Amino acid sequence: MRVSTAHVPSCLIIAAWIACGAFGVDAAPVCAPTSEAQLQSTSILTPVSPPAREIQSLAALVVGICAAIFIVVEGALLWAIIRYRRRAGERGEPVQVFGSNPIELAWTVIPLVIVFVLALATVRTIKDVQRTEPPEGALAVDVIGHQWWWEYRIADEKGGAAVVTANELIVPVGRPVWLRLASADVIHSWWVPALNGKTDLVPGRFNNTWFEAEKAGTYLGQCAEYCGTQHANMLLRVRAVDEAQFESWRRAQTAPAREDPSFAAGRAVFLRLACMNCHAIDGSSAGAFGPNLTHLMSRETIAAGMAPLNRDTLRAWLVDPQQLKPGCNMPSLQLTDPELDALVDYLSSLH
Ligand code: CUA
Repeated sequence: MRVSTAHVPSCLIIAAWIACGAFGVDAAPVCAPTSEAQLQSTSILTPVSPPAREIQSLAALVVGICAAIFIVVEGALLWAIIRYRRRAGERGEPVQVFGSNPIELAWTVIPLVIVFVLALATVRTIKDVQRTEPPEGALAVDVIGHQWWWEYRIADEKGGAAVVTANELIVPVGRPVWLRLASADVIHSWWVPALNGKTDLVPGRFNNTWFEAEKAGTYLGQCAEYCGTQHANMLLRVRAVDEAQFESWRRAQTAPAREDPSFAAGRAVFLRLACMNCHAIDGSSAGAFGPNLTHLMSRETIAAGMAPLNRDTLRAWLVDPQQLKPGCNMPSLQLTDPELDALVDYLSSLH
């Protein structure tokens, strides 16, 4: 039977997490990601980036300390209930304790020490996770949240053309990535649990966060701030590849759109209808309300990660986007079958 973490009750995940982390058990064989499927989980238990790892260690420390407090307090309670229970023949109140210095010191000093330790550990984690300056040699990426998709822009340090893409971010393994986050409409939150904690995208300001994927793989995430009807379908997908693959992806993304005369009919449909007002295809249109489609087919998914991208899903999307993603800003364009075919042919040619 195949089990996806999405169906495992969260109490089991927490229990497994406590077993793996909080008590200092070497968790490698149980918790370490071993397959692509596990890398794709959105669990916070499989960090592959320094900030995510620090957040996990801090959380494990907090859970560990709380578990120890629980065991000590509940243990003392049970012991007192059993040891000092009323026995046959006993009458009246037991001896009352007032003003015991050792007891009062114990319940004051021990919690103080615990809070102090937790505060120190938290401050250290916050300092590492919320950097104010980009890490050395970081790849700078602008992230813009839209209802309900993600826009990514990667400027070229050497002054070349910038990458402008949507929903799927490709990054090099082992190199820090410095995100500058902004919103085009409402508050969103960028959260890929394996890479870092949540960072909000707030209209009118820029926030920063960073991560460094230590292993190649696809890391999934989710908008983590309620942003409207399709908040749940504002999915994140970060693919970490080696530096050479990243550079070839970057080159391909900055190349001009493919212009094949055999798809001229579809291109004409695109330019004649409302498509071009919202979507950019380099050389043909400059719309900026929807995802840039210049290299549409280089992506794996459509509708911000809701479905795999192929001719069938693309066609279904064009027939009526509201079927797949009710409430999204793209209307059904009421295309005829020949128009649809031509448009699908054209868009499918945009690699
Ligand atoms: Cu964007 Cu929730």
